[in-house]
Amino acid sequence: TTRRKLVVGNWKMHGTHKANAELFEGLLAAGPSNADVAVCVPFPFLAEAAVALAASDVRWGAQDCSAHEQGAYTGEVSCGMLHEFGCRYVIVGHSERRAYHAESDQLVADKAKAALAKGVTPIVCVGETLAQRESGETEAVVKRQLSAVIHTLGHCVGEMVVAYEPVWAIGTGKTASPEQAQAVHALLRAQLQAATPHAAAMKILYGGSVKPDNAATLFAQPDIDGGLIGGASLKAADFVAICRAAP
Ligand code: G3H
Repeated sequence: TTRRKLVVGNWKMHGTHKANAELFEGLLAAGPSNADVAVCVPFPFLAEAAVALAASDVRWGAQDCSAHEQGAYTGEVSCGMLHEFGCRYVIVGHSERRAYHAESDQLVADKAKAALAKGVTPIVCVGETLAQRESGETEAVVKRQLSAVIHTLGHCVGEMVVAYEPVWAIGTGKTASPEQAQAVHALLRAQLQAATPHAAAMKILYGGSVKPDNAATLFAQPDIDGGLIGGASLKAADFVAICRAAP
């Protein structure tokens, strides 16, 4: 199976109208790459992303969503709203959400399900902390995180995107080596294979200090299907270079 690479920028809580306009311009000027490309922007910027990117191949999405369809949930944003703003993707279960907002494996799974119900593809993040890696728990942690999603999505499992993001590699400049990342991606793929006939076609992205100079070797690994890019997605030249690193 050849899986087309997917490169997704996660802007996190960055952006201004001015900076966004420059970034969009840089992405649009770049021309095509071999990867599918998307940017996940803060909620208030979804409308301008939709306007700026509508005529391009670049997709857009959000960084979180509610698990609820609608109702008295002050401050929350539903997947139906994301769909109305043209979101193709929504990141769920990013380690920053798990850590700072106490999101459980089950809540993350429920958000993924809510997204699929509205036709928005969830990018489900999993990953171990440094302490967990050092105590040999990496496999158990990512398995537990993924298994909640597999059970909750049922026959729709094949429609999600998975992102492996070792917490110790996020924003630290410490990238997992291509071999370390590939080893975990292979475990995740095997777990998906046991759950769905579509596992071979599913995308598993790597995230954690992906830069223009390490993207190509990461993307060359057999089970790494692209990247979830934080810091380097805020500079058009870097993000474009990462997209171009897709074979
Ligand atoms: O979602 C993106 C990841 O958290 C990676 O962030 O590229 O700044 O390390 P980073």
